[in-house]
Amino acid sequence: MNNFIISLLPQGSTIPYELLLLADPSYQAIEIYLPYSDVFVVELAHKVIGVYVLYPLNKQESEIKNIAVLEKYQGKGIGKLLLQHAIAEARKRAYKKLWIGTSNASIGQLYLYQQQGFEITELKKNFFIDNYPEPIFENGLQCKHILMLCQPIE
Ligand code: ACO
Repeated sequence: MNNFIISLLPQGSTIPYELLLLADPSYQAIEIYLPYSDVFVVELAHKVIGVYVLYPLNKQESEIKNIAVLEKYQGKGIGKLLLQHAIAEARKRAYKKLWIGTSNASIGQLYLYQQQGFEITELKKNFFIDNYPEPIFENGLQCKHILMLCQPIE
C-alpha cells in the first residue's frame, strides 16, 4: 500500500484549484463555499493528488462540498480513503450528520457514496440547470438534478 498522507491545508496555502475544478466545474461556485470551509489534501511523495472540502452547514451538520483525485490516481482507493477521513473528521468535530451531493448522471460517485454509508435523502430538481451557466454532461447524460446523500455520525 502506498504511503498516502491526508492533512488539513494550512490557511494561506496554495489552493489546488486543478483538483477542485474536477469535481465542480464552476470557479464561481467554489469561491462561494471555500472561505467557510476546511480543505484537506492527500499527498503522495509531497505531491497533492487529492482533495476534499468540509463545509459547516450548522452546529450539527456538515457537507463534503468537493472531493477529487487526480485522474492518474483515480480507481486506486484514494477517494474511499478521503471519504473515510471526512467521516472520522466529522465525528471528531462532533457533527451529527454528514452530507454529500452529486448529480443524477454521476453513477460511479453514487455507488461510492452509498458504499461508504451515505443514503440518498433529498433531490434538488434542476439544480445544475439553474445554477451553472453551461450544461454539464457525465456518462453521456446531462447533469440536471442534485441528489443529496446523508449519513448519521455516531
Ligand atoms: N465510476 C465507477 N466506479 C467508481 C467511480 C466512477 N467514476 N468512482 C469510484 N468508483 C468506485 C470504484 O470502482 C471503487 O469500487 P470498489 O470499492 O467496489 O472497488 C469505489 O468506487 C472506490 O473508488 P476509489 O478508487 O476510492 O475512487 P477514486 O479514488 O477514483 O475517487 C472520485 C473517486 C473522487 C469520485 C474520483 O473518481 C474523481 O476525482 N472524480 C472526478 C471528480 C468528481 O467527480 N468528484 C465528485 C464530484 S461530487 C462532489 O465533489 C461532492
